Amino acid sequence: MPEQPVPSPVPQAGPSSAPLAAIVMAAGKGTRMKSDLPKVLHPVAGRPMVRHVVAAAEALEPARIVVVTAPGMSDVAAAVAPHRTATQAEQKGTGDAVKAARAALAGFAGDVLILNGDVPLITTQTLRLMAAARRAPLADGALPALVVLGFRPADPTGYGRMVTARDGTLDAIVEHKDADAAQRAIGLCNAGIYCADGALLWDLLDRVRPDNAQREYYLTDIVGLARAAGHRIAVIEAPEAEVMGVDNRAKLAAAERVAQGRLRLHAMAEGATLVDPETVYLSWDTRLGRDVTVGPNVVFGPEVTVGDHVEIRAFCHIEGTVVADHAVVGPFARLRPGTSIGAGAHIGNFVEIKKAVVEAGAKANHLSYIGDARIGERANVGAGTITCNYDGFLKHHTEIGAGAFIGSNSALVAPVKVGAGAIIGAGSVVTQDVADGALAVARGRQTELPGWAERFRSENAGKKRKKT
Ligand code: UD1
Ligand code: MG
Repeated sequence: MPEQPVPSPVPQAGPSSAPLAAIVMAAGKGTRMKSDLPKVLHPVAGRPMVRHVVAAAEALEPARIVVVTAPGMSDVAAAVAPHRTATQAEQKGTGDAVKAARAALAGFAGDVLILNGDVPLITTQTLRLMAAARRAPLADGALPALVVLGFRPADPTGYGRMVTARDGTLDAIVEHKDADAAQRAIGLCNAGIYCADGALLWDLLDRVRPDNAQREYYLTDIVGLARAAGHRIAVIEAPEAEVMGVDNRAKLAAAERVAQGRLRLHAMAEGATLVDPETVYLSWDTRLGRDVTVGPNVVFGPEVTVGDHVEIRAFCHIEGTVVADHAVVGPFARLRPGTSIGAGAHIGNFVEIKKAVVEAGAKANHLSYIGDARIGERANVGAGTITCNYDGFLKHHTEIGAGAFIGSNSALVAPVKVGAGAIIGAGSVVTQDVADGALAVARGRQTELPGWAERFRSENAGKKRKKT
């Protein structure tokens, strides 16, 4: 049977949406992930999938967002706070999941957006179109009781297939496992995102029965039920990249690729140069200023903000850090959470910084560990300097004053303070505070014995056993 093209209803003028509530289904076991972590908490671009979904819904400012979780999923509840959760006692399918949210929506009258917690790349723009389509009359003048989001994946295996009528409205959704060969040949699939008339939803759900291959209550069955009751169902289509469902690790990686693509384009649109975009990994909240240049193979973990005119050279790993304007970082620098790099500061190769403030114009250019510290303005931290911040039990602070100079290969044993403008001789192990402007040298004094080496050689020449 040839497939009918599905015209997306174009939302008409008029009220674009009624009062809106959102339900996010997140109670599924996610067995195909083979993970101890609930599926919806697996991160995409550094943020749990379900948070992406909730954020897309939040932007529509619905009256309520209810996230359906399973008993014991307190970590999911924490991830979606402050939104309320509803508990689905047993994971009996998506239809049952939505029913679990009924009490939490008591007293709400309007349209209900239903979202899959494992479809993380959904955009607010598409949700807005769906809400508008719920209020847009179809060709025959009727309002659709339900709007379903569809897409045409390259490989439809596993997705529900959309059985459409000649006019493009939806007759039924058939799950992959229940579909016959002809239905499996349908390219249009269910994205798992719906906008339903709240006045009809609960009655439809009450009529869903688990008579299918998986013995589950399928939310998708409300389509056929609504159709049989004479209601019309509209379909909107989205690109696969936006609505792919993440049910296994391969799809998680595919979603990550799409998310990275979006973030890279956004960073470039905001005025950053990514020399080789495909090799730069960003987090959902990475903020790069104007005229930032990011070299190849740089990874940004969560909570990184970079000012303007910053250069991040190749092979850096940065998380939980603020970098001020005109700083230069890398190549091969690692900046860990709690770090602040001041304006114009230079952080060079093989320098690791954790929970430290490096003030404006300071430099740590080679082979250092700086943790739990403050490096004052324009201080210079020589190659190989280590802050010894950990005594095996507690972490201690190192303070380096403005303009201080730390000689190469020094160990600063915290807690310790080096005064402003002080100089530390190379190779020192500094265990006591150093006053402003002082020189501290804390290493064995150099001694010299003239001619000693010559004598040593001549005395020992011939002692070595000759090889036969
Ligand atoms: C579902 C759809 C399928 C669609 C696909 C899109 C149904 C029956 N099928 O299939 O048509 O093509 O999404 O990605 O809806 N969940 C619960 N409680 C449950 C079961 C699931 O909360 O008892 C949650 C899951 O956490 C998940 C979402 O509902 O976030 C979808 O469940 P999942 O098992 O992934 O459904 P699919 O097989 O992907
Ligand atoms: Mg799924």
